[in-house]
Amino acid sequence: MTAGAGDIPTGRWRRTWTAIDERFGISGLGYPVPAHANGIGYILGGITFFGFLILAATGVWLAQFYHPTPEAARESVVYIMNVAPLGDVARGIHFWTANLVMATVLLHTGRIFVTGAHKRPREVNWLIGLGLLTITIGLIFTGTVLKWDQEGFEALGHNVEIGDLLGAFGFWFSPTLSASLPIVGRLYIAHVVILPALGTFLLIAHFLLVKRHGISARPADFDAAVDGGSAPSKAGSSFAVHLIRMVGFGLVILAVTTVLSLLVRTPLGAAPNPSIEVSKPWWMFLPFYPFEDWFGLPALLWAPALMIGALALVPFVDRSRYRSPGRRRAFIIAGAIVVVALVALVAYAVIEPAKSHVAM
Ligand code: HEM
Repeated sequence: MTAGAGDIPTGRWRRTWTAIDERFGISGLGYPVPAHANGIGYILGGITFFGFLILAATGVWLAQFYHPTPEAARESVVYIMNVAPLGDVARGIHFWTANLVMATVLLHTGRIFVTGAHKRPREVNWLIGLGLLTITIGLIFTGTVLKWDQEGFEALGHNVEIGDLLGAFGFWFSPTLSASLPIVGRLYIAHVVILPALGTFLLIAHFLLVKRHGISARPADFDAAVDGGSAPSKAGSSFAVHLIRMVGFGLVILAVTTVLSLLVRTPLGAAPNPSIEVSKPWWMFLPFYPFEDWFGLPALLWAPALMIGALALVPFVDRSRYRSPGRRRAFIIAGAIVVVALVALVAYAVIEPAKSHVAM
């Protein structure tokens, strides 16, 4: 049979697609996922991942102009803001995306907790997630220091004090570790190499386990199966659709942060004055700020350690067979109390006048 004129492009496209797919295996992404995986709650991890891609791209651009030395760091940020091509926009997108990524990772954690997705067999992935949360916080902390303004300098003061409190284990945080490279240079290496490398390693493990276990069923469907109903469906959509939605949400983040970077001046404080301590930290560190007020600097070690430790215990304490919030009331109420307490601590930290803590 002779092909009609209209069939030729289709045939050519199909052959081209087959040739590409044969080599890259793109159609392998079309494996089934449950339809609910495409809801925003189940896509928050993917949005966070896309945020990290934006951070990496803008970070690479910023690195072309940034100088990681005490003498030149702040001036190079001023150069990025005023002279470097697209420097101000890249810096703004980097700053706002860091804030959004922190928000989405917290919401992702909240979704996992509320839907009981940390339960068997996903306990280890919950712990890997906690590692990712710690790395995210580490990236924001080191990034703050790099600006080398008053806020960054005070953050560095805390970094050094934490090193002292850790004793022999705190050697990395101490400026005395290397006589040839100032500590801001080492924090820069942590920001652009050590933490991203560790994060990439954990992300790969996180994604492999998500693929291995499949996305968790909706709690009500899971509980119905526990009570003897039919097993929840593992199909209904495809990962390719999930991926497209993830990219769509990610592009919204990019658009929002681009607009913010154009409308709002990304903050840079005055050059550091080592004899004063007047800054409050970014919002994600504020829940710990009152503890610093009440108990001094050591609280900066034990308060976050207690928080992470308590989160690490969640899958091993919340062990009933059920996942619906209604069947795990005690845990949901405990989680809600923690969230309210964190918000109250942030409010207290915002209202309280800034205090000096270093060398208290
Ligand atoms: C910091 C970066 C993180 C990234 C980029 C990330 C990414 C993802 C992605 C893409 C998924 C697939 C489903 C979804 O999007 O909800 C997922 C699932 C999961 N994540 Fe994360 N995650 C991060 C942090 C965390 C944290 C902090 C925790 C908990 C402490 C966590 C625990 C889990 C668990 C248990 C699953 C399986 C959920 C299910 O099957 O319903 N992740 N993560």
